[in-house]
Amino acid sequence: MTENIILIGFMGCGKTSVGRELAKSLKLEFVDMDYEIEKEQQMTISEIFNTKGQDFFRNLETEYLKKLINKKGIILSTGGGIIIKEENVELLNKIGTIVWLNSSVKNTVRNLQNEVNKRPLLKDKHDLENEIKDLLEKRYDLYKNASNIEIIVDDKNIKDVVSQILVKLS
Ligand code: S3P
Repeated sequence: MTENIILIGFMGCGKTSVGRELAKSLKLEFVDMDYEIEKEQQMTISEIFNTKGQDFFRNLETEYLKKLINKKGIILSTGGGIIIKEENVELLNKIGTIVWLNSSVKNTVRNLQNEVNKRPLLKDKHDLENEIKDLLEKRYDLYKNASNIEIIVDDKNIKDVVSQILVKLS
């Protein structure tokens, strides 16, 4: 097992909850990128998107990853769009083992129903399901190709997902 584990996947797939639980099980430090970027910028992700735009946010993600290159012993939860930039995927590969939490459209809609306000890319969309479907289709192969391990998370609770990750890592 490499020393760091990175969770990637679409919004609402459970990266933060699973990451916290996994960190507890392995007694490692949990790092949530969105949270760290918000802290650094003293703005919420929505405020960053609204005032500075998506490209600015994507660059913040890259700069943050660069700082992690020499870190050891962390569970890293990433933002759902981290795989959009090839440079980010290259950095992630240098940082650790990449685990994709693969969530279906149906499961994602269910998880995000009351959470869209925190997601600038999904907020105010009339047809949430179709919006998720389109975005997930565009990103699906990027998640697949970037990951070392894939876990289907549909209908699994957090502990089940963590157990599966641990099995696949061993
Ligand atoms: C994004 C996902 C969000 C956050 C930002 C953009 C995306 O993180 O980074 O709103 O492009 O999918 P979560 O996956 O934690 O919701």
